[in-house]
Amino acid sequence: MQIQTSALADAPLLAVVLTEGDLTVPAALDEAFGGALSQLVESEKFKAKAGSSLTVRGMGAVSNAWVGLFGAGEGDAEGLRKAAGAASNFARSKSLTGLSLQVPGGDAKAAEAIGEAIVTGNYRYERYLPEARQTKPLEAVSVTGLGDTTGLDAGVALGTARSLARDLINEPPADIYPETLAAAATKLSTDRLQVEVWGPDRLESWGAVGTLAVGRGSSRTPRLVHMTYTPAGESQGTIALIGKGVTFDAGGLSIKPSAGMVTMKCDMGGAAAVVGVMSALEKLGVNVTVHGIFAAAENMLGADAYKLGDVLRYRNGKTVEIHNTDAEGRLLLADCLCYASEMDEVTHIVDLATLTGAAVVALGEKYTALYANEQDFADTLLASAKESGEGLWQMPLENDYNALLKADIADIKNVGGRAAGSITAALYLQNFVAEGKTWAHLDIAGPAFLSKPTEHLDKGGAGPQVVTLLNWLRSL
Ligand code: BES
Ligand code: MN
Ligand code: ZN
Repeated sequence: MQIQTSALADAPLLAVVLTEGDLTVPAALDEAFGGALSQLVESEKFKAKAGSSLTVRGMGAVSNAWVGLFGAGEGDAEGLRKAAGAASNFARSKSLTGLSLQVPGGDAKAAEAIGEAIVTGNYRYERYLPEARQTKPLEAVSVTGLGDTTGLDAGVALGTARSLARDLINEPPADIYPETLAAAATKLSTDRLQVEVWGPDRLESWGAVGTLAVGRGSSRTPRLVHMTYTPAGESQGTIALIGKGVTFDAGGLSIKPSAGMVTMKCDMGGAAAVVGVMSALEKLGVNVTVHGIFAAAENMLGADAYKLGDVLRYRNGKTVEIHNTDAEGRLLLADCLCYASEMDEVTHIVDLATLTGAAVVALGEKYTALYANEQDFADTLLASAKESGEGLWQMPLENDYNALLKADIADIKNVGGRAAGSITAALYLQNFVAEGKTWAHLDIAGPAFLSKPTEHLDKGGAGPQVVTLLNWLRSL
């Protein structure tokens, strides 16, 4: 999508962004409606709360099919993000293919938020809908009134990266399984982005015991994908991003009830986020080397499925006793953490995973749970999340709870019991992070898949933390 900065005349949607401090409808527009718009602001008690809107048909009063007033709260970058997202979302819901967005000023960061939100708000997954239920995406967009427009293109790149993650999450598990998820990564290969895929033989010879165990119950064999981004200029550091790529989580022999299984195509949301991030690094001119790594497997109940009581011996020597085959994400993430830990140049490791129902219970669909082994790094990620308008909430990596993971015949077991379920999952992962590496774990189980839409996000796959991580990587 290309956003122009001269006003699109006759756009099907004319969207005027107002702030709480100034509810004045532009005079010419109000006059065209005989003063009805300002009357509507009064009678509907429109206060320009961020994300709120008042929309009317043009009815011949103007050349636009629709006119909308969109609230930006205090008019800061976050308020403008919500207004732009709501306008773009409204355009999509009505199949309006052109948007003229008028904002009351904004700096480069605000422009970036607006560009991102226009892409994000316009997103739908409609591949399998009958034509009558399909909607039209935006084709032409203008944004006017910004003080600085330089961030618009970067914003569009951020939103597009997120859309890729959302598409991968939304695709049914018959379409996205380990082989095709790996192929989606391979498709992104460029000179600066190399992609390597490990099949079962390489997993076996390397010793990816967790990934192999989880994948054994399925006729779709597992994969490990290693994407490497090399910056054009001198690299300013080396980062590893790791994603959970369980393309369907039936729970294995510890089978899930149907109600809990129905959305489990989203269990590769971490891998999807990694692919989304990797897809935008070159465009955004990121200056660090980034390794994007994910393990992909289907957690099924086939005749060769891994069993309760099995013991895995990992690359780093740790042994794990399986107590529940539905705690599978941590098993394959542990392989990836071992792999990244063996790379000497890597200083920071971030993993993303739809890891625990406990994180959903604790924080709902708005917040990702953040765990980190260094407070400075947690603070850095929290600041990036604030900039991207995403919910990120730090949880304690409480080492006293390590006792809950102690096993009888191995170092640790793969579950810690009901209490503190999201924390013990993080503690499990910590066993596979080498000493000296800065590490953060993002449990995205809640925000990866929305059960209902927000002001500007459609329900379904949501691609959380793609924008946050890109904002962090751009700052390095
Ligand atoms: N994929 C699930 C976690 C999940 C739940 C993601 C809801 C998204 C929405 C994970 O593999 C899982 O099953 N976790 C178990 C762990 C338990 C057996 C220790 C859970 O949370 O119940
Ligand atoms: Mn599971
Ligand atoms: Zn899972």
